[in-house]
Amino acid sequence: MKVPVDRRDALGSAADAAIVGVFERGEKEEAFPRSLAKEDAATGGNLLAAWKRREIKGKRKELTVLHRPDGRGRLVLVGLGPRSRFEAETIRRAAAEAIKGLKGKGARTVAFRLPSFAVDPVPADVAARALVDGAVLGAYEFVKYRATADGGVEEASIHLGEELSRDETVVKKAVAEELALTETVVWTRDIANLPADTATPERLAEEARALAKEVGLKVTVFDEKQLAQMGCGGLLAVGSGSVHPPRMIVLEYSGGARRGRTVAVVGKGITFDSGGISIKTAPAMSNMKFDKSGAVAVLGILRAAATLKVAPRVVGVLCCAENLPSGSSYRPGDVVRTFNGKTIEVLNTDAEGRVVLSDGLGYVVQHYQPDEVIDLATLTGAEVVALGDDTAGLVCTDERLAQGLLAASAATGEPVWRMPLTDYHRDLVKSEVGDVRNSTEISVAGMLTAAAFLETFVGATPWAHLDIAGPAYTTVTTRKWQPAYQNFGATGFAVRLIARYLESAAPRS
Ligand code: BES
Ligand code: MN
Ligand code: ZN
Repeated sequence: MKVPVDRRDALGSAADAAIVGVFERGEKEEAFPRSLAKEDAATGGNLLAAWKRREIKGKRKELTVLHRPDGRGRLVLVGLGPRSRFEAETIRRAAAEAIKGLKGKGARTVAFRLPSFAVDPVPADVAARALVDGAVLGAYEFVKYRATADGGVEEASIHLGEELSRDETVVKKAVAEELALTETVVWTRDIANLPADTATPERLAEEARALAKEVGLKVTVFDEKQLAQMGCGGLLAVGSGSVHPPRMIVLEYSGGARRGRTVAVVGKGITFDSGGISIKTAPAMSNMKFDKSGAVAVLGILRAAATLKVAPRVVGVLCCAENLPSGSSYRPGDVVRTFNGKTIEVLNTDAEGRVVLSDGLGYVVQHYQPDEVIDLATLTGAEVVALGDDTAGLVCTDERLAQGLLAASAATGEPVWRMPLTDYHRDLVKSEVGDVRNSTEISVAGMLTAAAFLETFVGATPWAHLDIAGPAYTTVTTRKWQPAYQNFGATGFAVRLIARYLESAAPRS
């Protein structure tokens, strides 16, 4: 999508639709807002008439489409909800609602009236970023396998008008950056949405190689033979039931001019999770092509790091395997030796994410000695039960890292909630047979026992674990509860969050 920044007023543009935000009015509020005077003039008084008939309430998700007598397309009013709860996230959602509402109406170009969104406490550049998020992500659809794709909005211009003309430079910079970022989210969604017959571990390696070439990253792919030599027994065990062998993929971005610390980002890349021998029920595995979302987010994060030229050096590790039952599968009771020599007692082959991550975490810590490690994984159903479909669970052993991620969460609107990790959880994953076991005998705190397991392979390095099982994708059922910029299928969750974290966090002293 093109997003030009324009000095003119949106109402004067030649776009198919001008989009204006409007706050919720009180029950007894009759006075027509003076801020909408220009809009009313553009509709030849129809807006005021609609207001008087109380057709416009300004509630969230409310869209009013008025046609302009001057033949200049439409005026779209999008509800922002109550003024007291207005924030950047309101704008993201409203922009996506407007774009979605225009779908199938033949609008190819839209013009956002920035002054109607850049309202205290949201400054113009932040509002413009949120409009980019909402427009680009809200317009996204996965169309690769569809014969016909109805072309939606192709250009969303952001209009400063006289009111905001002084902010032109800062808005232009913000829009260019956010556009690069959202294009990466779209790119990430396109890979995460690929079905498991196509998105095999080797295919993810090909995507990584192509990306490395495109944006200038170092890439290393370890195939099954190399994984055996390295002692990556976790990846090999989980991948042993599939005809598509496992891969560990490493991407390196060397850091910007002000290069400081090294941040490692490790992702769970289960291309399909059937549960393996501990097989899932049919409904439980229907969306398990999305079990690679953590690893694909790592691809997106490296792409964002390279295009935005963030300061830290970033090492991405994708732990990719397919978890299937067969005569060659790993089984409950098996003991697996991982990269760093620690052994895992496998009690449930469906707790496979932590098993592949053990090798990736052990490898990146030993090989790169990063200043901090962040892992991303659709790790547990317990995460979804605890926090819902929209929020990721954060477990973090380092205060500064935790605060940095929570700040990035607030800035990007990608919800994250911090959870505890204590000796209670650590005791639950101790094994009588090996060093750690991959599932517990009592089923409590599933998200946190998984985190306790992972901690074993990180050691003392500052570490954050993001369980993204809920927010990584939406389904036909869950998408109606999600913001309009989260489309059906993969959301690309954590790309904006971690990119923002890498952009903003001050180097560790
Ligand atoms: N990939 C699943 C977790 C998951 C569930 C992600 C639902 C998204 C939606 C993971 O590999 C898994 O199967 N976890 C088990 C762990 C258990 C066997 C200890 C779970 O959560 O039930
Ligand atoms: Mn599983
Ligand atoms: Zn899984």
